[in-house]
Amino acid sequence: MSGPNTSFDPKQVASLSEEAVDAMVEAAVSAIAAAGDLGELKEVRLAHAGDRSPLALANREIGALPPAAKAEAGKRVGQARGRVKAALEARQVELEAERDARVLVEEAVDVTLPVDRRPLGARHPLTTLMERVADVFLSMGYDIAEGPEVEAEWVNFDALNVPPDHPARTMQDTFFVGSAESGVVLRTQTSPIQIRAMLDRELPIYVVAPGRVFRTDELDATHTPVFHQIEGLAVDRNITMGDLRGTLDHFAAAMFGEGIRTRMRPSYFPFTEPSAEVDLECFVCRGESVGNPDRPCRTCSSEGWIEWGGCGMVNPRVLQAVGIDPLEYRGFAFGMGVERTLMFRNGVSDMRDMVEGDVRFTMAFGVEA
Ligand code: DAH
Repeated sequence: MSGPNTSFDPKQVASLSEEAVDAMVEAAVSAIAAAGDLGELKEVRLAHAGDRSPLALANREIGALPPAAKAEAGKRVGQARGRVKAALEARQVELEAERDARVLVEEAVDVTLPVDRRPLGARHPLTTLMERVADVFLSMGYDIAEGPEVEAEWVNFDALNVPPDHPARTMQDTFFVGSAESGVVLRTQTSPIQIRAMLDRELPIYVVAPGRVFRTDELDATHTPVFHQIEGLAVDRNITMGDLRGTLDHFAAAMFGEGIRTRMRPSYFPFTEPSAEVDLECFVCRGESVGNPDRPCRTCSSEGWIEWGGCGMVNPRVLQAVGIDPLEYRGFAFGMGVERTLMFRNGVSDMRDMVEGDVRFTMAFGVEA
């Protein structure tokens, strides 16, 4: 009968032999010394002191030894793990000190530098909106056209079929540069850019012109003496009012969302014939406030539509004024107020907010690209 194997020599269990355990400790200690930063040390700790490290696996084998052999093997492995742990801790302290010293240098803040006393503001929402409109038309193949803010009276009025005695000339309260006889005005509308585009460019012409315009209005919630318009002009063979309508519908959808309806009401502008006023379906209530006192709409005053701008087919007299044969070419034109568009697109109820330059107003739009 065989009794317990009391003469069992734990050194014969290969992974528990003194040499094997020493080798494990040596491998661990040199890996610890080689760890160059805390990240590397973390990996070394896992490899040499983690649950699946050689020493941890060796430790598990102790349990299978006969009682007499357990003590010695346990002591050897325990000491070995103690040495590895101590080496890890010492290296950890060293590497942390190195990191702290480096961070102090790399992330040093010079508290004597002056602070930024003029923090950056945000772009003005009118600028952002005009660029957005320009993008809509650029993507349809239009060019951007420009003209001067100080404009010849002839370009601002006469060429646009507004002769000196025309009531429209007084409708737009004009700032004259110098005297009222100087022939030079601050442009009252962006429409003179149409004239310049037709004089300067080759046919066919497809342009949009965002710009600043001036009228002798008092500043109040709905008027400002300096405001912005965006003008559009297309001159080509066979242009029709249908093209105008489709273009404005696309413009409206890009500004206010797909499916928004527009409508044209007959109107009068000297430079277009026929002329129309463009209304936009109220994009807040979509017409549901009309005749519905329970659901009033502040954006459209419960009318269901908001006036957006003017448009029409370029008056043949305007084409003639710039030397374009109206029998060969036709055009459409439109003009929208940018402030108005911003007011109902972004719910700005007071125009004064747009001109006062208070950064708290513009910052709220700062997130718009
Ligand atoms: N210039 C006009 C205004 O300031 C707006 C306008 C109406 C422009 C009709 C146009 C147009 O191009 O076709 O009231």
